[in-house]
Amino acid sequence: MTVQTLTIRRPDDWHLHLRDGDLLRAVLPASASQSGRAVVMPNLKPPVTTAEAAIAYRERIVGALPPGSAFTPLMTCYLCDTTAAAEIRAGFDAGAFAAAKLYPAGATTHSEYGVTSIDRIADVLAVMQDIGMPLLIHGESTDPAVDVFDREAAFLQATLRPLLARYPRLKVVLEHITTAEAADFVLCDISGRLAATITPQHLMFNRNAMFAGGIRPHYYCLPVLKRERHRLALRRAATSGSPAFFLGTDSAPHDTQAKQSACGCAGIFSAPVALQAYLTVFEEEHALDRFEAFASDNGARFYGMPPNQDTITFHRSPMQVPEQLELPDGRRIRQFLAGETLPWTLA
Ligand code: DOR
Ligand code: ZN
Repeated sequence: MTVQTLTIRRPDDWHLHLRDGDLLRAVLPASASQSGRAVVMPNLKPPVTTAEAAIAYRERIVGALPPGSAFTPLMTCYLCDTTAAAEIRAGFDAGAFAAAKLYPAGATTHSEYGVTSIDRIADVLAVMQDIGMPLLIHGESTDPAVDVFDREAAFLQATLRPLLARYPRLKVVLEHITTAEAADFVLCDISGRLAATITPQHLMFNRNAMFAGGIRPHYYCLPVLKRERHRLALRRAATSGSPAFFLGTDSAPHDTQAKQSACGCAGIFSAPVALQAYLTVFEEEHALDRFEAFASDNGARFYGMPPNQDTITFHRSPMQVPEQLELPDGRRIRQFLAGETLPWTLA
């Protein structure tokens, strides 16, 4: 019999861009209505590089929450070549940081202050290993000679493998994985200290979506969508039941003008329909019974946090995804799956 309603423990989003100011106020309600907690990315301008900045940003987020919301932002530190190990230790001990984010310099949006070489942050990584603070990695090679579609696979061998060997107890999340190579890499690590987030777009689309009948900037994100075989491998990984994979939307709002330009920004605004999208994938894969672990259990366990206590319910009732979110100043943000119909509604 077809399942008509599904109730699960409330999910968390382990990879989210909330931005700041008007944009924050516009996009936050979507995440607050879906997730209990979210790991908030620090790639603001300027980036969040100190505990003081993280606390101030958290206060701005909490101040922008809809009344009555129980959403908890988990803050991250943007690692630079000059990040002090003492700042990391003190920020983690004080609860200002839940994790630190490694952007290879130049890999993506606002990554220009990122890390130029792992050697530069050796003492920071040693401290993180000691205190059990997760390192969240944007895993793409920045070598300009590497093809854009090969950057993740290249990073695994050139950077991640040696990093894991050098820090055998460091907890690492390989963020928004996009390839069969990355899924296999994570599955092969049996230590339990390596995990990965997977976005809804990488489960639903391959790279053809960016070029369907013309160039489609709203399917452009980083790491970029890959071939079909990678999408299929990611779907197998997410629905495998392995505790190493969990939900991270990488919802990354940019206003439509910034995306529809001669040099359009990377990022897909998926927050309003992320759970419905993931659920659709799990149902297509005949893995509804594994959805709760992926969405609500695995991430919390990896981070050493208690699972959420409340639940959410989906009804089998088609929902049409709105085209866009409008800001008070007239800017618009196009939504992931704009205009499409999804089979599930979030109660
Ligand atoms: O598509 C992306 N957008 N990938 C990233 O790594 C950054 C993000 C953003 O901040 O816009
Ligand atoms: Zn991201």
